Amino acid sequence: MLVTTKELLLDAQKKNYAVGAFNINNMEIIQAIIGAAEELNSPVILQASQGGIKYAGIEYIAALGKAAAQKAKVPVALHLDHGTDFDQIVLCIRNGFTSVMIDGSKYPFEENVAITKKVVEIAHAVGVSVEAELGKIGGTEDDITVDERDATMTDPEEARRFVEETGVDSLAIAIGTAHGVYKGEPKLDFERLKAIREVVEVPLVLHGSSGVPSESLEKAIALGICKVNIDTDIRAAFARGVKEFVAENPDEIDPRKILGPAREAMKEVIKDKIKIFGSVGRA
Ligand code: 13P
Repeated sequence: MLVTTKELLLDAQKKNYAVGAFNINNMEIIQAIIGAAEELNSPVILQASQGGIKYAGIEYIAALGKAAAQKAKVPVALHLDHGTDFDQIVLCIRNGFTSVMIDGSKYPFEENVAITKKVVEIAHAVGVSVEAELGKIGGTEDDITVDERDATMTDPEEARRFVEETGVDSLAIAIGTAHGVYKGEPKLDFERLKAIREVVEVPLVLHGSSGVPSESLEKAIALGICKVNIDTDIRAAFARGVKEFVAENPDEIDPRKILGPAREAMKEVIKDKIKIFGSVGRA
């Protein structure tokens, strides 16, 4: 069943759990995500990043995501991750995405408000949910790189004003996570999260969640994170699955045999995440 992120995240917020948002690039990843969610009877979010769209094309990724959602026994949202271009956002909506992110975090506050407002206006007109970002999350997510020195934590008072002025449905905040592989153990600023939660009513989103210890994720969810984004950990499972299979079966040429074990490896990782997020049985 294809749904919006707004309805998934409002339920998560009410019941104090989080919905996993997993990045999609091909059919096997989508099947791994849906398979994991169905086994655990959990809602789930399929999200396509700039790199995913460049690799597969909006039409392909949307068609795959919609087919998966319509066939799934659990509620599934199809979301654009880190949208930066107004025209692309419109195209995603036309192609059936039920949710979009407008990432204006690289702009000064007022400009971020202005572009986010514009997206909210057109998306809400057709029942599509909108996520925005305030503060700058470090690391690399496909084409978007934020240097560690440029990463800035979200200011609670700015977050309050931002949500009020834009009317967004959810807000991605910077509290110490980064996209990609961590060098050391990430330290989350829970006090900042608490302060933001106190003044912001919409569900909060955590990016760069691969490699974050499960206790930290659980604590962040208890403090109000309702959507947790995972990409890198799925990539690692995919690569591990393919490499192990090819090492053991160097003469195999059937793509289905090579990708099948990778799909299983990704599914196991995703199931572990869903359990940490507390969304088991919430479908
Ligand atoms: P990771 O690659 O660190 O899991 O981050 C994913 C993400 O936040 C996508 O927006």
